[in-house]
Amino acid sequence: MLSGKHILLIIGGGIAAFKSLDLIRRLRERGAEVTPVLTRAGAEFLTPLSVSALAGKKVFSDLFDLGDEAEMGHIQLSRVADLVVVAPATADLMAKMAQGHANDLASTLMLATDTPVMIVPAMNVRMWAHAATQRNLATLKSDGILTVGPNDGDMACGEFGPGRMSEPMEVVAAVEAQFSEGPLTGKRILVTSGPTHEPIDPVRYIANRSSGAQGAAIARALAALGAHVVFVTGPADVPPPHGVEVMRIQTAQQMLEAATGALPVDAAVFAAAVADWRVEGAHDQKLKKSKDGLPQLSFAENPDILKTISHLAQDRPPLVVGFAAETNDVLAHATAKRTRKGCDWIVANDVSPGTGIMGGSENAVTLITDEGAEDWPRMGKDEVAVKLAGRIAQVIGDA
Ligand code: CTP
Repeated sequence: MLSGKHILLIIGGGIAAFKSLDLIRRLRERGAEVTPVLTRAGAEFLTPLSVSALAGKKVFSDLFDLGDEAEMGHIQLSRVADLVVVAPATADLMAKMAQGHANDLASTLMLATDTPVMIVPAMNVRMWAHAATQRNLATLKSDGILTVGPNDGDMACGEFGPGRMSEPMEVVAAVEAQFSEGPLTGKRILVTSGPTHEPIDPVRYIANRSSGAQGAAIARALAALGAHVVFVTGPADVPPPHGVEVMRIQTAQQMLEAATGALPVDAAVFAAAVADWRVEGAHDQKLKKSKDGLPQLSFAENPDILKTISHLAQDRPPLVVGFAAETNDVLAHATAKRTRKGCDWIVANDVSPGTGIMGGSENAVTLITDEGAEDWPRMGKDEVAVKLAGRIAQVIGDA
């Protein structure tokens, strides 16, 4: 529920602006007050009348409107809300934000606000992939701007790929997560998840069967308790949860870089199935069949992310949780792994083929701490996540 929450909704100029009308309805259904701001380009796609009718209040659009200024000055407008949502956030709006422009009402509000800002990007796939947009996105993320989407899919311009605006209910979920209060409010938690892909050449890679389901469920459960989750994920089957900060990587080396870049954190959960080896000297051209025989691959050891972060002299998270995927002698192997990796807790599970756990929806785990081993009954991965998040909250939370 969002009752009592005030959202300043900035609607940019893109074909996806029509989704913002439904977003206003959904936010208001949940009790939020929505003050709409329509950019000049936004007004090419939506009429002020339809926005105002759905929001149940007037639309602001002009920085130099004397009437508006007398009613509520733009600085005051930038501060009234609990959250500023920019949907759709066009490439142009993102660029203005990243540069700190203040040449119209929307950009001025974003610069003057002292409340969190969430952007919901929407643009053509090439515009999204362009180095300039990605550079702006990185700047905005490091400025603490929250992002939702974009999604992959068919686009109004006839192309396909990332750039499609998230659906209104996905934005609502992210807004709700932002306001969720719980024992982990104010805590920052790192979660790694999914497999890594280690390239052989530009078209082939080595991977594993991890779906990323357990890591995503843990991130969701921690966010539901109020944590700010930095979710570092390899190419997983399961989409990342809403309301978390997502960092997508491919290889173990990139995962280590992203994870260390996220520090300091109050806790770190390493649920990723990281490839232990990478192909040494991966080819930058596609390997071709040859009469001279089969290609020979040699391997190099990947960094152990859990071990590296557990042994940091500076910025070691106060609680480090590792996973142990084992196929035999689970307890013995996992107990030894806890010592070897230097983490505080190990969540051990049996991933032998008969269990159906790897890639499945259930998990049967044993939690190993310095107090001993605790068997949890077989349950859904979501339930394991909720139970683990609860235990983490007991240790680092304000409960
Ligand atoms: N892990 C990691 N970096 C690696 C390998 C593993 O961070 N390069 C983390 C995993 O995320 C997990 C834990 O270490 O939390 C154990 O992973 P697992 O695959 O079970 O162990 P391995 O290190 O591969 O050990 P072994 O080969 O002995 O099973």
